[in-house]
Amino acid sequence: MMLTSIVLAAVASLLPACLAQLASTLEYPVGPLTHSSAKRAVKLCDVTKYGNHTTDLGPSLLAAFNACKAGGVVNIPRGIHQMSTFVTLSGGNAWAINLEGTIERAGNTSGGNMIAIESTTDFELYSSNGKGAIQGYGYQFLANGGYGPRLLRLTNVTSFAVHDIALVDSPAFHLVLDTCSQGEVYNMIIRGANLGGLDGIDVWGFQIWIHDVEVTNKDECVTVKSPALNILVEDIYCNWSGGCAMGSLNAGTNISKIQYSNVYTVNSNQMYMARLFKSNGGSGFVSDVLLENFIGHKNAYSLYINGYWASEAVQPGDGVLYESITFSKWTGDCANGSGRAPIYVDCPASAPCSNITLVGIAIWTDAGHEEHYKCANDIDSHGYCLNRDSAFTPNATITSTVTAAPSGWSAAYMPSDLSTGFATNSSIPVPTVPNTFFPGATPATARAYGR
Ligand SMILES: *[C@@H]1O[C@H](CO)[C@@H](O)[C@H](O)[C@H]1NC(C)=O
Ligand SMILES: *[C@@H]1O[C@H](CO)[C@@H](O)[C@H](O)[C@H]1NC(C)=O
Ligand SMILES: *[C@@H]1O[C@H](CO)[C@@H](O)[C@H](O)[C@H]1NC(C)=O
Ligand SMILES: *[C@@H]1O[C@H](CO)[C@@H](O)[C@H](O)[C@H]1NC(C)=O
Ligand SMILES: *[C@@H]1O[C@H](CO)[C@@H](O)[C@H](O)[C@H]1NC(C)=O
Ligand SMILES: *[C@@H]1O[C@H](CO)[C@@H](O)[C@H](O)[C@H]1NC(C)=O
Ligand SMILES: *[C@@H]1O[C@H](CO)[C@@H](O)[C@H](O)[C@H]1NC(C)=O
Ligand SMILES: *[C@@H]1O[C@H](CO)[C@@H](O)[C@H](O)[C@H]1NC(C)=O
Ligand SMILES: *[C@@H]1O[C@H](CO)[C@@H](O)[C@H](O)[C@H]1NC(C)=O
Repeated sequence: MMLTSIVLAAVASLLPACLAQLASTLEYPVGPLTHSSAKRAVKLCDVTKYGNHTTDLGPSLLAAFNACKAGGVVNIPRGIHQMSTFVTLSGGNAWAINLEGTIERAGNTSGGNMIAIESTTDFELYSSNGKGAIQGYGYQFLANGGYGPRLLRLTNVTSFAVHDIALVDSPAFHLVLDTCSQGEVYNMIIRGANLGGLDGIDVWGFQIWIHDVEVTNKDECVTVKSPALNILVEDIYCNWSGGCAMGSLNAGTNISKIQYSNVYTVNSNQMYMARLFKSNGGSGFVSDVLLENFIGHKNAYSLYINGYWASEAVQPGDGVLYESITFSKWTGDCANGSGRAPIYVDCPASAPCSNITLVGIAIWTDAGHEEHYKCANDIDSHGYCLNRDSAFTPNATITSTVTAAPSGWSAAYMPSDLSTGFATNSSIPVPTVPNTFFPGATPATARAYGR
């Protein structure tokens, strides 16, 4: 099958294109349909006009949304806006939220989402001055061993963008895109504590472009879940994170035409950094995937397919079928390549992977002088320890031992990598959104700086 539309998106990203030009280049455009300035000309709903926004933004945000949801811009000005009443903004068309200040979680509500956006079209959440942030003060929950609300969740949203804002210290997941379509997420920094359960971006849906994002946490960086079709993820900096993945692949998995390009991942703990596919049983398929130009440093796992991922409960089914997946140009180093093989492909014995291609994988070990590549349960595949034949012996692992650094393994570093994660018991400062997310790359869409 062809990756036509995501390839078109990649080509479009090279052009000095505004959103409208990019949209017209794609079969299915991504992003809002109406420019924020045109929405602003229709109506401006400033939260300061809708109640006391500083002590609890929730009610004024909801009132401003209701006033502007048929077309307009909800404005949240500079300054601190505490928020203890969480809101679901549902419905509407051709509207936007301009977040110039910082929303700080207050109160004790432990579940749900601080801001949920649902069933809306032509939507944009942005920061015209590039300084907007949501501060979740997650440590107030995490230090006591519990989780709190998620920061932001979009459900059934079509033709949208979220950009140029920081999501900080969520008490749970940071950004969830649930069954959304034709959307774009870019120029974002996500900073959570060094703990699992604080996912950066989880996405499932159709025609979505996620680019120029930095994530710090100890769980998902930018992760695709099922169902998903035509998702392009590029220029991603997992700066002390869990790594990008395809996760929670259960019964009826339906993921295809996924591309990740230019992904820089550094510094894991022992918990499955840079894991790629994790499942245990399940059914359905992951097909037509291209994962190219990855750089890793000091990660526990690197290229990692695990059809028996023990942290996932065994799901009904013979296993998820992985087919037509290409890994191309992976360089850098891993923590201990004899303990955790930098190439590790363990597919379900009852649903062997097929048509997997590994090309240009050069990852050397930080510890010791040798590393292993391990492959099991794959057919009609090519490269390294993969099995070219259409027959295989269930669970017979092919292991190769590499005793010299593969040529071309050495890879660039980002200017300042994180040398330790963020504690769960103290506040994480609000960072500035950076202007590079992959060595040598600049954002596909210019950062907003006080526009
Ligand atoms: C909001 O409420 C706080 C606390 O009652 C008060 O100090 C502040 O002046 C109020 N702000 C506005 C804009 O009404
Ligand atoms: C949060 O919970 C603590 C302890 O239960 C309580 O003392 C505090 O008043 C609560 N804060 C709010 C804003 O409800
Ligand atoms: C999704 O949103 C559209 C409006 O954009 C609405 O008409 C539709 O009912 C929503 N679907 C679901 C399942 O909520
Ligand atoms: C997978 O999802 C696509 C896109 O929504 C849909 O067209 C297709 O029927 C689904 N396939 C299966 C086997 O569920
Ligand atoms: C194998 O996968 C490649 C992409 O990785 C694709 O171009 C090719 O058509 C696939 N072959 C088969 C037989 O599915
Ligand atoms: C690397 O892994 C191997 C095999 O598990 C282990 O024997 C060795 O001690 C590890 N090296 C370091 C530096 O942790
Ligand atoms: C293959 O190994 C997995 C994981 O250890 C096990 O659950 C499965 O039963 C084995 N399958 C066969 C056919 O040996
Ligand atoms: C990675 O995170 C650390 C800690 O916040 C920060 O100091 C560093 O600048 C980040 N790296 C880059 C290149 O943004
Ligand atoms: C946070 O936890 C660490 C490790 O348990 C401890 O050393 C540190 O003092 C704690 N910091 C605060 C502000 O409680």
